[in-house]
Amino acid sequence: MDPIRYPSPVSCESIGIGLVGFGTVGSGVWNTLQSNAALITDRTSGKVSLSVRRIAVRDISKPRDADAPTELFTTDWNEVVSDPSVDIVVELIGGTTTAFDIVSAALRAKKPVVTGNKALLAERGSELFALSAEMDTPIHFEAAVAGGIPIIKAVQESLVGNRIESITGIINGTSNYILERMTEAGLSYQDALQEAQDLGYAESDPTLDVNGWDAAHKAILLATLSYGFPVDPQQVYVRGIEMVRGIDITFAKQLGYVVKLLCLVRAHEDGSIEIRTQPSFIPANHILASVNGVFNAVAIRGDRLGDAMFYGRGAGQDPTASSAVADLVEAARLQSQGSGHRGFLPYKQDGQLRSIEDTKTAYYVRFPVTDRPGVVAEIATVLAKAGIGISGTHSPVNPSEPDADFVDLVFLLHTCPFGQLKDALKSIESLDCVTDRPVVFRIETLT
Ligand code: HSE
Repeated sequence: MDPIRYPSPVSCESIGIGLVGFGTVGSGVWNTLQSNAALITDRTSGKVSLSVRRIAVRDISKPRDADAPTELFTTDWNEVVSDPSVDIVVELIGGTTTAFDIVSAALRAKKPVVTGNKALLAERGSELFALSAEMDTPIHFEAAVAGGIPIIKAVQESLVGNRIESITGIINGTSNYILERMTEAGLSYQDALQEAQDLGYAESDPTLDVNGWDAAHKAILLATLSYGFPVDPQQVYVRGIEMVRGIDITFAKQLGYVVKLLCLVRAHEDGSIEIRTQPSFIPANHILASVNGVFNAVAIRGDRLGDAMFYGRGAGQDPTASSAVADLVEAARLQSQGSGHRGFLPYKQDGQLRSIEDTKTAYYVRFPVTDRPGVVAEIATVLAKAGIGISGTHSPVNPSEPDADFVDLVFLLHTCPFGQLKDALKSIESLDCVTDRPVVFRIETLT
């Protein structure tokens, strides 16, 4: 038999890339393109050759992880967007103001955009997607959700024939790293956060990582892709890990759970969509419980597919650059083929979010209280009046301070709507014995 002959790769013109932002991810994109450019051209049958033509940074003299030639640098992002040799603009500066201007300017110039900016798309996606449609110029954002995991493509393309029933994710690497280090190494919250920052996992302002909003922005994007309507972030319930203490982690362990910052998106039979992000107890034997360190996991249930799980590095230089480079290749391919828009566009004006008050789980609630007789009974009385069942209570005593005036009192509560719990907590907070706001964790069964 004659050997099979493959056609020789078609030679192509190189596509010009403009990078705005050259921090952790920007440097990663540069390094990936330096080391794998020839591979990319081969793997696209010779159709894609990428070359970085301009780079905008705030401070040119800052030391970096990549040695791009100095003549490529400018401090003015306009020079990148308007440079005629730049065909695709990569926005990697984060934030929602200048980044918005950069993305808008690129779209207006009909230059496709690649971005890893989940805050920008979750907060101002409606305006940008509308502009993207008007200019028939796509925004690609694989790097915005779950770092190196190709989850955007999976939801948007691979699962296009499924009704998405639920998405359950651990999608903030920094929080997951901090929780794991607190759990396994007994590190303080601050020390664990510092480690995550040193490793390049955290956002430049880590507030969004630890207050739950980085994860929530990603969940909002996944929900928008799955259900087709823009989600108003103001309507989404978000809590972060700042209030997690060693005692919660230890207690979870004793009960057979682990603490994770969990994002949950779920379609209900009445058509409403539940979206929430908060620290949760999940069963220690659930597959998501073994997602540790900077790793992310997204479990998706589709009506045809059933269950699938996507797992990988959710933050960091190379994994995130891997996603941004995949988007660059996609954008370059479309451009070289002269194809029109194939980014994401919301296809519905609106949809209904389920009110957080109506969402139901069991709960772990920690009350900081004055340590005096009758405290347990006072709180239990309010809960009983509210019709909320108690499955256990615990008052851990600090052995080195057995006579401390203040203690944490833990209640485990039966499943009830969150609204019912919220009302009861309001009354409990006004009791004299309660010294600070209660800390609530959901107890998820994850069936
Ligand atoms: N700071 C993010 C995280 C990475 O820790 O997951 C980018 O989204």
